[in-house]
Amino acid sequence: TLTQAEKAAVVTIWAKVANQADGIGAESLERLFLSYPQTKTYFPHFDLSKGSAQLRGHGSKVMNAIGEAVKHIDNIRGALAKLSELHAYILRVDPVNFKLLSHCILCSVAAHYPSDFTPEVHAAWDKFLSSVSSVLTEKYR
Ligand code: HEM
Repeated sequence: TLTQAEKAAVVTIWAKVANQADGIGAESLERLFLSYPQTKTYFPHFDLSKGSAQLRGHGSKVMNAIGEAVKHIDNIRGALAKLSELHAYILRVDPVNFKLLSHCILCSVAAHYPSDFTPEVHAAWDKFLSSVSSVLTEKYR
């Protein structure tokens, strides 16, 4: 679980990210598909070219869910319950992919807000994204 200081760091950086959430979401997916092309197999029905409407739309949905998790940082499990069922029972995304996407989100945030991305903010975001991933993968077992 996150300490009070870590929660505060997540909330603070999110306040900035929220202004450009759609772009950062799309960029995170672009990084995911370029660096880890095997992840594209989950999106055979998508146009994954840079800047496509589907990439932007999906990036926006993903970042909205992250925003909900930030808003309910003391109850991420409750906030993402439906999404957890979707990824586990319907989409059946292999849990390893959550680490890859989390890393790409981290890179996008760092690239957009370099001076805010202190080692403490980095660590707090990493821990937060790993909590989100745990919630989204816990229904698998
Ligand atoms: C759908 C969030 C990780 C594959 C979605 C949706 C959201 C979401 C909000 C839309 C749900 C809806 O339409 O009701 C997230 C978050 C993640 C995450 C917050 C982790 C931080 C992943 C990963 C993969 C993945 C790692 C696979 C590499 C998919 C697929 C869909 C989906 C295939 C359905 C897309 C469609 O057909 O529209 N996700 N997701 N997700 N997600 Fe995730």
